[in-house]
Amino acid sequence: MSTAQPETRIPVRFSHAAEQRSYEVLVGSDLLPALADRLHAIFPDLPGRAFLIVDDKVPADFPAAAKNSLEAAGCTVTIQHITALETNKTPATVERLLTALAETRADRNDPVIAIGGGITGDIAGFVAATYKRGVPFIQCPTTLLAMVDASVGGKTGVNLATATGLKKNIVGAFWQPRLVLADLDTLASLPGRVFRAGLGECLKHALLARAFVDSELSLATLLRPSLQTLNASLARSKDWVRPLVIDSVLVKAAVVAADEREESTDPHTSRAILNLGHTFAHAIETLPGLSLDPTTLETDGPALHHGEAVMLGLVAAATTAVAMDLLEPRHATTIRQTVEFLGMTSRVRGLPDDATLLEAMGHDKKTTGGKLRLILPTAKADQQLGHCKVVTDPPQQAILAGLDAIRDPAPSPLEGEGQGEG
Ligand code: GLY
Repeated sequence: MSTAQPETRIPVRFSHAAEQRSYEVLVGSDLLPALADRLHAIFPDLPGRAFLIVDDKVPADFPAAAKNSLEAAGCTVTIQHITALETNKTPATVERLLTALAETRADRNDPVIAIGGGITGDIAGFVAATYKRGVPFIQCPTTLLAMVDASVGGKTGVNLATATGLKKNIVGAFWQPRLVLADLDTLASLPGRVFRAGLGECLKHALLARAFVDSELSLATLLRPSLQTLNASLARSKDWVRPLVIDSVLVKAAVVAADEREESTDPHTSRAILNLGHTFAHAIETLPGLSLDPTTLETDGPALHHGEAVMLGLVAAATTAVAMDLLEPRHATTIRQTVEFLGMTSRVRGLPDDATLLEAMGHDKKTTGGKLRLILPTAKADQQLGHCKVVTDPPQQAILAGLDAIRDPAPSPLEGEGQGEG
């Protein structure tokens, strides 16, 4: 049974020559019904208006609780719903929301508040960054993936559909939230598969944590795969996931504080490290005809959720690192077992031939000067997992070894169909 605990506050601090800025990430229960109280910490006088951008899949009770809290404190609330799909993450959606915001006559102090997953936060954050050249932005993530990753760090933006394909996040701005409110109660409403997909980003943080956080983190338990982990993951236990969320936010906060705008060229501490597993993930998640093993998983929804593609990407990156002699093979085995003990499969059906895969990898935005850049885990026999490195122009054979490590040779029933999540 879950025990009531006070919320945990994690600071995200930036230090620039000219200014010090910071905000807090609150992790706990019953946070949305107390939204107005939490806003008082950053707005001693609550603004007159608030503009809520809400994913229409979020159960109505959550935005209603936030609205009631704000209205009881004397704030006029406008709610705009969006359908949070990659195909709706467009300038047209931003224009619709900006128009609605202007029609409320919002001024520069009135906050935009996102309630939803990563897509909602990315769109709402861009609206907040651009309305009147920037208004306060509050993130209320309702998916595990958004709590541990997307809501922290200020990346906002939308996709562009171009003649050469969908360009993800190509229009955007760094716009840090003033507050992040991760209400763990919202996780109970997620489909099990969407919840578990978010664990992919927790595992990513476990694999890069040691370079940024000195203390032993609960994330390290993920790297000791066991049936206990599998049971907790399948049960979606709030007591189990809470420390994983807190530690993931600690790691993310430390990474973005060190390199807010991903400008560092340090191969060990640049923000680019957060793309561990993502170059493989982005390449495969847009491919048609993929499927997961239907005997071990719920297969409703898209062929691959982003977090599932990230888990596969972590397995692929580990094998590539082994092929480059950066990682002991036993560590790659641990990473694969962890993915499986989180309730995922570590292979995907329907992967195309090597040439198609390499082409998809090359089109990822994390290429510099035409050279592919991969983030790879590093640990020798006597070292623990927890460090990564940016590697430029890795050998093709090592990349192919990584891709082969996630290939399930069983035929995909979806072969040829357009099932990529985008
Ligand atoms: N999700 C990657 C980053 O925030 O940089």
